[in-house]
Amino acid sequence: MEVNARVYFPSCGSVDWLDFTMSMEKPVSAAPAEPLPADPVDRVIRYHIQTKHHFNRYARALGYLDWANQPNPFRRFAGASLVSLPLLRPEEEPVSPAYDAIYQPGAVACQPVNVRTLSRFFEFALALSAWKKAGESEWALRSNPSSGNLHPTEGYLVVPQIEGLDLKPGLYHYAPKEHGLELRAEFPAGQTANLLSPFPPGAFLFGLTSVHWREAWKYGERAFRYCNHDVGHAIGTARIAAATLGWKMVLLDGLSQDITAMLLGTDRADDFQGVEPEHPDCLAVMWPVEEVRGEALGVRGRQGMIPLFLDLIVVKELAECTWHGKANCLSRDHGVHWDIIDEVAHASWKVSSEQHLLSCSPSVANDASRETNDAGLSAGQIIRQRRSAVSFDGKTSISAATFFRMMQLVMPRSDRPQLERPMPWDVWPHEPAIHLLIFVHRVDGLKPGLYFLARDQQKLSFIQQSMNPELTWTPAPDCPEDLPLYWLLEGNAKKLATQVSCHQEIAGDSAFSFGMLAEFEGRLREGGAWWYPRLFWESGLLGQVLYLEAEAAGVRATGIGCFFDDPVHEVVAMKGLNLQSLYHFTIGGPVEDGRLMTLPPYEHLKRDL
Ligand SMILES: Cc1cc2nc3c(=O)[nH]c(=O)nc-3n(C[C@H](O)[C@H](O)[C@H](O)COP(=O)(O)O)c2cc1C
Repeated sequence: MEVNARVYFPSCGSVDWLDFTMSMEKPVSAAPAEPLPADPVDRVIRYHIQTKHHFNRYARALGYLDWANQPNPFRRFAGASLVSLPLLRPEEEPVSPAYDAIYQPGAVACQPVNVRTLSRFFEFALALSAWKKAGESEWALRSNPSSGNLHPTEGYLVVPQIEGLDLKPGLYHYAPKEHGLELRAEFPAGQTANLLSPFPPGAFLFGLTSVHWREAWKYGERAFRYCNHDVGHAIGTARIAAATLGWKMVLLDGLSQDITAMLLGTDRADDFQGVEPEHPDCLAVMWPVEEVRGEALGVRGRQGMIPLFLDLIVVKELAECTWHGKANCLSRDHGVHWDIIDEVAHASWKVSSEQHLLSCSPSVANDASRETNDAGLSAGQIIRQRRSAVSFDGKTSISAATFFRMMQLVMPRSDRPQLERPMPWDVWPHEPAIHLLIFVHRVDGLKPGLYFLARDQQKLSFIQQSMNPELTWTPAPDCPEDLPLYWLLEGNAKKLATQVSCHQEIAGDSAFSFGMLAEFEGRLREGGAWWYPRLFWESGLLGQVLYLEAEAAGVRATGIGCFFDDPVHEVVAMKGLNLQSLYHFTIGGPVEDGRLMTLPPYEHLKRDL
């Protein structure tokens, strides 16, 4: 079976921008022979610079696809027992709510945590969504998108004893092809209850890890970036899946990565002997929110606070328990090993732990008002139908109202307390660091050109000072008052967007595309090198919101990991490392590839159907 292998390296094109000429800047690259800097922040910056794509040179990769060693996208743990989750038809309980309802606090009935609701949760978060077939090749797609469809992300669950949940307390690995949970470790009920006692009733943990090799096999040195985009998308699919069940979710980002590794078992060298390791990315807590007489009971933690950390002593005790399973080998041979990926993973390892607490309060509605452009689809339908567009028609436009709603949905409303931020930004316990440089091509009522969404208005002057001083920052016409969307330049940006996105036409044939600019060096120096992956997570989470919203608006989206870094910066004359573009994204009228057949996701399992 072959993984869907898109190659994002098409041939060269030319710049055509009404008001711009773009120079071919000389590539800036840290010489690989240079000694590693001592400061972890300098190391991640070195990685970032070295893995930029330039017009005249791509980041280092093998240069061809070593099909014989294509990584298996399905990790399994031999010797760990598998609990099959029921395969639920869309109309079976729990039935998914209307798509709009997930953005309205209190509009989704809270579901108890049981095997059926966990099945729905994983279906929407990480399960297979379809098989694609072309000739003899077949490959699976999933609810979470992934760079090159290589799926480096693995999902885990830590559950205590919960009434009505027929699962032993312990750590489980999610096996997407089987739609089942592999029991990696049995945890004593008492200790698991202790671990989760600071959280609201019914709380459990969800974890993500990455197999860097899966992306490195194809993308070489840039793979660490893509793995982290994918983590961000998976945080998004999980948060949204939880919202369809009336559950809350918050990233436990006060944890040190050693604790995450210990609880998820990625530090158990014997269990990964001779096979591809998993990098422990993050843990999140989830809990059902019960609304009784207007009061959100489920958000009441022990002292009305939600900790963003776990008790180290209890985690250590749990790690001493009985473990099961040995990880499977994903590729027979690994060809070139990209040391720089291990280096950046090491440099960005979170060694600190912070005892942060969030005060509990219900989340509030997102301010996005919906134009009646959806067909009243359920959240489940939107999630199941989500796909990346492989090409766009170069014709379809969207209305300004649809465009503004999309922009509103990615506003984190960071002026509000964490748990009062709109879904999914309530999952993200940080101030926003990502802003959008938007190439508007076909939005009715908006002049084509370059726009900017400042997701944190307080950063506006910093952003403005980091760019060409001649840009006009005019509020976008007819845009909702509270949306910090600015018009920078008028002109046809189709060719420019295409060119800076590795000449991919999906960036110019859409209704709009954009680069996600991260507050970069300042954020890293202030917060530490562990911020580096988080900048990618935030951009992936943002992309996930728009993947679904595009479907709801009758169009389609695609994430774009391949872009020429510095030429993007040059569009707005950004110098230095104040802001860096980390991820591109495009939305428009899709053109289907008629050569591909689509098959249902779980025909190979025939159980319960
Ligand atoms: C981080 C990321 C980067 C991606 N980069 C590109 C890209 O540069 N070009 C492209 O055509 N598709 C890109 N994609 C789309 C993937 O190819 C797509 O998600 C994958 O094939 C799975 O298909 P699906 O999204 O329809 O499930 C990207 C997706 C992600 C999540």
